[in-house]
Amino acid sequence: MKGVLSISFLFCCLLLLLDSSISLPLCVDSRAPFTLNKALGFCPYNESTCCNSTEDAQIEKQFRTSNVSDPGCASVLKSILCASCDPFSADLFTVQSSPRSVPLLCNSTIPSNSSQSKATVEDFCTQVWDTCKDVSIVNSPFAPSLQGQAGAPTPTNASKLIDLWQSKTEFCTAFGGSSDNSSVCFEGEPVSLNKTETPISHPSGLCLEKIGNGSFLNMVAHPDGSNRAFFSNQMGRVWLATLPDDGSGGTMELDESSPFIDLTDQVYVDTVFGMMGMAFHPDFAKNGRFFASFTCDKSKWSGCTGRCACNSDVNCDPSNIGTDHGAQPCQYQTVIAEYSANSSGSQPSSVESAKPTEVRRIFTMGLPFTSQHGGQILFGPDDGYLYLMMGYGGGVGDPYNFAQNKKSLLGKIMRFDVDNIPSAAEISKLGLWGNYSIPKDNPYNEDKDLLPEIWALGMRNPWRCSFDAERPSYFLCADVGQDVYEEVDLITKGGNYGWRVYEGPYLFHPSQSPGGNTSVDSISAIFPILGYNHSELNKNEGSASITGGYVYRSTTDPCMYGRYLYGDLYAGAMWAAIEDPQNSGNFNTSRVAFSCAHDSPIKCESAPGNLPALGYIFSFGEDNKKDVYVLTSNGVYRVVRPSRCSYACSLEKATTTTTSAPSPSPSHANSWSVFPGYLFLQCSFFLLLLLGFM
Ligand SMILES: *[C@@H]1O[C@H](CO)[C@@H](O)[C@H](O)[C@H]1NC(C)=O
Ligand SMILES: *[C@@H]1O[C@H](CO)[C@@H](O)[C@H](O)[C@H]1NC(C)=O
Ligand SMILES: *[C@@H]1O[C@H](CO)[C@@H](O)[C@H](O)[C@H]1NC(C)=O
Ligand SMILES: *[C@@H]1O[C@H](CO)[C@@H](O)[C@H](O)[C@H]1NC(C)=O
Ligand SMILES: *[C@@H]1O[C@H](CO)[C@@H](O)[C@H](O)[C@H]1NC(C)=O
Ligand SMILES: *[C@@H]1O[C@H](CO)[C@@H](O)[C@H](O)[C@H]1NC(C)=O
Ligand SMILES: *[C@@H]1O[C@H](CO)[C@@H](O)[C@H](O)[C@H]1NC(C)=O
Ligand SMILES: *[C@@H]1O[C@H](CO)[C@@H](O)[C@H](O)[C@H]1NC(C)=O
Ligand SMILES: *[C@@H]1O[C@H](CO)[C@@H](O)[C@H](O)[C@H]1NC(C)=O
Ligand SMILES: *[C@@H]1O[C@H](CO)[C@@H](O)[C@H](O)[C@H]1NC(C)=O
Ligand SMILES: *[C@@H]1O[C@H](CO)[C@@H](O)[C@H](O)[C@H]1NC(C)=O
Ligand SMILES: *[C@@H]1O[C@H](CO)[C@@H](O)[C@H](O)[C@H]1NC(C)=O
Repeated sequence: MKGVLSISFLFCCLLLLLDSSISLPLCVDSRAPFTLNKALGFCPYNESTCCNSTEDAQIEKQFRTSNVSDPGCASVLKSILCASCDPFSADLFTVQSSPRSVPLLCNSTIPSNSSQSKATVEDFCTQVWDTCKDVSIVNSPFAPSLQGQAGAPTPTNASKLIDLWQSKTEFCTAFGGSSDNSSVCFEGEPVSLNKTETPISHPSGLCLEKIGNGSFLNMVAHPDGSNRAFFSNQMGRVWLATLPDDGSGGTMELDESSPFIDLTDQVYVDTVFGMMGMAFHPDFAKNGRFFASFTCDKSKWSGCTGRCACNSDVNCDPSNIGTDHGAQPCQYQTVIAEYSANSSGSQPSSVESAKPTEVRRIFTMGLPFTSQHGGQILFGPDDGYLYLMMGYGGGVGDPYNFAQNKKSLLGKIMRFDVDNIPSAAEISKLGLWGNYSIPKDNPYNEDKDLLPEIWALGMRNPWRCSFDAERPSYFLCADVGQDVYEEVDLITKGGNYGWRVYEGPYLFHPSQSPGGNTSVDSISAIFPILGYNHSELNKNEGSASITGGYVYRSTTDPCMYGRYLYGDLYAGAMWAAIEDPQNSGNFNTSRVAFSCAHDSPIKCESAPGNLPALGYIFSFGEDNKKDVYVLTSNGVYRVVRPSRCSYACSLEKATTTTTSAPSPSPSHANSWSVFPGYLFLQCSFFLLLLLGFM
């Protein structure tokens, strides 16, 4: 099923490709910067940039129009106008999510120890004021009316800074700022991050406690901020559980016999089918709106009727494609349905069960084959829109090239507005796939070839995406590989993540392509920020399937703070990645050891048979305190204080006040501990084959 490539080949290319790795930084419109073949004509950007030649020419024109006579001020002004081409322009031109006309001007100097003596150098904001204050600028970007409103009309008359602002202090209060851990300021030159490597101390291990026995595919924290979370299983049942306090010794409280909602009548379940995702409206506590994503079988349920993803728009004739299982093309469909937790007279947040009555169908699409259909849904923390992660739809190596086809929704991340639902007439006029509207700034606005639902393309089978709770522009998606490589992508607007031109960083050669081909040169693929070769797990078994997790933002394990935690479904292995330097988009990753807390509320018995100790890692979860959970075939595990596993973490001592002395003797050790390198990779193909296979 999975091809095996020469290990030495993989090794050399992996090192080469990952070394020249992509920078993350973001452009103002939340697109990824791109790499230029040759330098821009006007602005001093030659490699990674947010401007193409057209935009560069516009900046040059704006600069000429400003008619600045003084050479010193002209040079400063040019650098400021050109900052919109900086690969960090999203950071420079946005402060607390309001756009600016001028980048954040550094108003304090970073104490530098370099020999070139910057000792008496003034901060950049002061330099701008001093050089330009008496110089006339036509269309001045420094007009007070522009501050904080990039779209405001520019006063056309020539003006000097001293005409516009009372003093340097006033000017620098408006335009100045400083870099911190999560944003950068502008110092007159393309932003360069401190490349001095910060010493990376690897966490010595991940300490887990087992708080539940159930096997779930999804966990979503209750939007009311309480210590509760929803858990759903593949069959289509959702439970509302109360999570035990950290260190209380309690287990999660969940009454199996009374689910929050039971959708088993609608959901079609098979190895790779079932309830794949759920999402709760950001205002759920007020409006009670929630959403389930699942697969259905149209031969079993009359509500299972969507347009087929194999259709004439994408040169696919359903009668020509053969599926396994003897199923008809588009017999199985992917659905997002909306339900309500409203009940007479009670607040949605106090509701403990809901009727499985569908309020509205958000999305329905028939699947050409029987696998690779993702299905996670989540709301963007900043934009409030609903994202759907969709796989390429199955078949060996994406024969119809759906993931690269801009007219197909397969192999895509989509973004819907579910707060503004058009009329049925409008929906059919626009040719939408359900009850939603298209956010105005979806990428089709700039690329009319794209279906309007598409946010990002070239995905293979995104299995678990999350937004960094502290830096929502970091939208991380694990994308399951085909034969050789599992990857993590940093998702940006309109980004093309390469499948099936590439599998991870490698060129992919489809064995059949009746649906045409996409040439390497015609796309600019964004490469993964992280990943692993199947050969790294086990040389004999080709099986691997990545499960994306979270950037750890809890203080419970301070040594994990800021690290992106993810795993492999079959190997039961986990990794923790740290971005270094901060904000660079470069991540270093390493396998993380884990073990079971001495005082785990439920004993961590090894999974039966040949399974890895944790069982299969289906998913991760995050609660309202940002504590992270691992959902496996064996149960629900929570990341806890390292000392509860006798892992050393010097930061823990400094921050934890109520440290209960860890058991000195390993004799109580609660079953397993797993070190990287000792992996139990055995697949039972009779067990649920969730994702990885065609
Ligand atoms: C890009 O520009 C920088 C500074 O202007 C220069 O040091 C570097 O060599 C240039 N790189 C290329 C590939 O032209
Ligand atoms: C440059 O980018 C703009 C905006 O994204 C686009 O409209 C234009 O077509 C691009 N020009 C070139 C030469 O690629
Ligand atoms: C540009 O500035 C010069 C003097 O520095 C002035 O004579 C000229 O009229 C200005 N042109 C415009 C278009 O404002
Ligand atoms: C600055 O440089 C001196 C001598 O090179 C060194 O002793 C000192 O530790 C440096 N200070 C910082 C803050 O790096
Ligand atoms: C520009 O100057 C002209 C003539 O001095 C004046 O009539 C006009 O109102 C000014 N415009 C702005 C936007 O200040
Ligand atoms: C820099 O700007 C920020 C934001 O306006 C302000 O809070 C801070 O006091 C300024 N620092 C200096 C040294 O002027
Ligand atoms: C930046 O990070 C360091 C170490 O990670 C931390 O000590 C410091 O408080 C952070 N600063 C800010 C402004 O968040
Ligand atoms: C760069 O890193 C060094 C060593 O970690 C640190 O002392 C210095 O303050 C950093 N500079 C900036 C601009 O962050
Ligand atoms: C979980 O399973 C274990 C072993 O089968 C059992 O001892 C324990 O009581 C169960 N715990 C809960 C909370 O269901
Ligand atoms: C649920 O109740 C809220 C508040 O009463 C209301 O705004 C909302 O429309 C209701 N939703 C449904 C689906 O009935
Ligand atoms: C919109 O929702 C209604 C109610 O669920 C449903 O009958 C209708 O088919 C949906 N429209 C589309 C295009 O899915
Ligand atoms: C499709 O593209 C791949 C990679 O560029 C190439 O190896 C393959 O031969 C192409 N197939 C067809 C049918 O053109």
